[in-house]
Amino acid sequence: MALQRATIRLAAAVVVALLAPQLPLASAISPQGPGNGLGVTPQMGWDNWNSIACQVDEDVILDNAKKLVDLGLRDLGYKYVILDDCWSSGRSDNGTLLANTTKFPSGMAGLASQIHDMGLKWGMYSSAGKYTCAQYAGSLGFEKQDAQTFADWGVDYLKYDNCYNEGQEGTSKLSYDRYKAMSDALNATGRPIFYSMCNWGTDYPWNFASTIANSWRIAGDIYDSFDRPDPRCPCTTWDCALPGFHCSVMNILNKVASIVDKGRPGGWNDLDALEGPRQIPLIMGNDLTLMDAPSLSILSNPAILAISQDSLGTAAFRVWQKPAYSSQNNTYSADLYTAGETYFWTGRLAGGDQVIAFVNAGAQQQSLSATIDEVFVDYVTTGSSKPSVQTANTWDVYDLWANRMDDATAKTIIDGGIQSLTAPTPSNGTNTTTAAAAAYTPFNVTVTPYADAVKKNDTAVLGVKVATLMAGGSVKADVPSHGVAAFRLRSQKMIPVAGKRKRDEL
Ligand code: GAL
Repeated sequence: MALQRATIRLAAAVVVALLAPQLPLASAISPQGPGNGLGVTPQMGWDNWNSIACQVDEDVILDNAKKLVDLGLRDLGYKYVILDDCWSSGRSDNGTLLANTTKFPSGMAGLASQIHDMGLKWGMYSSAGKYTCAQYAGSLGFEKQDAQTFADWGVDYLKYDNCYNEGQEGTSKLSYDRYKAMSDALNATGRPIFYSMCNWGTDYPWNFASTIANSWRIAGDIYDSFDRPDPRCPCTTWDCALPGFHCSVMNILNKVASIVDKGRPGGWNDLDALEGPRQIPLIMGNDLTLMDAPSLSILSNPAILAISQDSLGTAAFRVWQKPAYSSQNNTYSADLYTAGETYFWTGRLAGGDQVIAFVNAGAQQQSLSATIDEVFVDYVTTGSSKPSVQTANTWDVYDLWANRMDDATAKTIIDGGIQSLTAPTPSNGTNTTTAAAAAYTPFNVTVTPYADAVKKNDTAVLGVKVATLMAGGSVKADVPSHGVAAFRLRSQKMIPVAGKRKRDEL
């Protein structure tokens, strides 16, 4: 049966969410990362670069931070506010980094304190180079001094770029040494600071950064195109000496497909910020003060966020990639860029659940389907001719988009803040809140963590049951152009939870 309700347009954020589900630190497998205890699940928050680039000042940052709170996004887990490039005015005579006090009159410690008072975390940016990409002071050679300055300012997160690196790249060792210097310096401050490497995939950071960073960018800069090829982002795989910029969502997804297993608790593949409305760990890149209803609805869907923040910590992987069908030519084109491509992804979740996603980058709606053997391909390729427990089983299929808030509710929140949903009718009797909005219960991870909600079968994270998948069966979905259909599969009867996937591929 076709699952019409399971689809949504241009949910690029969501695809990325699906790529990065995770496992608790208390696992038998040692966590990755620099030893700061952070990044047990992928980071969530907001970064100003993609929307306003260098046009930063204190007001813009505070306005967006306030929106994180007012729109209910902080309570969904989006906690880091990250100030990107262009905030500095150089160094003092003794080499201390200085903030531009015209743009940031409260100073960075003052701004950090206001951010913390909102229940948020404070993120900043520098480069492992002589200059930042916008030619402000970089931290190469100043690692210890700058790390201490960041700690003194109350910084909780550092995005660390790769511009003007004085040629200290070209081998993994050169890049490792340069990025480890800041990792060590941050640790030496004693303040837990999430360390987000931004070297665009140069020298394959997923092979060397897992013990020094909490995340590493795998590609050049994303921009707001779903699939347009652009020679400024020249490569469609990560094996490329020139990462570039103007990388489309599909370009980056194609790059991550072969390295998904490198992301684990403590250290994650970073696909760059989410290209939401302005059209991604889940760092929103849009101006939150201009949020529209469909974007808020997509970004706020707890059922999808619970996949990103799943406690198992095993990334979903792509099972197949096929050209999209074109009714115009009545054919499947071999040319993925002309016809667009389609994907099927599957991944393990905590408690024996499974997540699956169909991605359609084609120009028209596609009917996509996957067999139960494809859903549980990891269990059926172990050399045994016996059916696996999973493929012999019966599964409830939950549509992860079905319970997202409707646009009218999202609009109510945008106009009056999340608190307006529960606000009493004013004394003049006018209450513009719609019935759907009044009935909507905002999800709050500080009250109910995602893992708890999943265990309690909370429909906000489970979605709506739309089908049953049985032995020999398949799951089908009609996926609109530039859309993603996503489902959680839950076994009807208790089956032994599979052990950790063998990681011999590492
Ligand atoms: C790029 C980086 C972007 C942004 C920009 C700032 O190198 O990939 O995400 O930080 O620099 O100049």
